Amino acid sequence: MKILMVCLGNICRSPIAEGVMSALVHQHGLDWQVHSAGTSGFHNGEPPHRDSIAICAKHDISITHQRSQQLTSQDFYTYDYILVMDHSNLDNARDIAPVNAKATLELLLSYHPNPQSLDVPDPYYTGGFDLVYDQIAVACRHFVAQHSPS
Ligand code: 4NP
Repeated sequence: MKILMVCLGNICRSPIAEGVMSALVHQHGLDWQVHSAGTSGFHNGEPPHRDSIAICAKHDISITHQRSQQLTSQDFYTYDYILVMDHSNLDNARDIAPVNAKATLELLLSYHPNPQSLDVPDPYYTGGFDLVYDQIAVACRHFVAQHSPS
């Protein structure tokens, strides 16, 4: 299975989501591929935000190798799941989704059992990377529980 995590800049939230999901995939021995992208392309080629790198490192997950890339229409044929961080990402992704897309497009927090909101708050301006990490990690664990072969 191929999973793409998506936010706006692909430097704060979706790199954390890629790192957390990749770690779970490794832990569970799953044959899944996980990548991430941003709807904007503003930060193409850049590594993750230093605070995203730091919060992942605190949880023994390295994301320093990641580089920001922009979501493309082609991704809807490549990936099985495209998991977005908030409703504006969902709108932006829907705008470029081909009619015959293979990918299932969903909000990542739809997998959270008791979300305060279905939007992962954008920490780029206001911080709060700890809360962002925790929300993403809970949702990723539930995604794996729901989709891994039993
Ligand atoms: P992200 O955060 O979507 O979680 O990567 C942002 C990063 C950059 C910008 C906005 C949000 N920006 O406007 O440059």
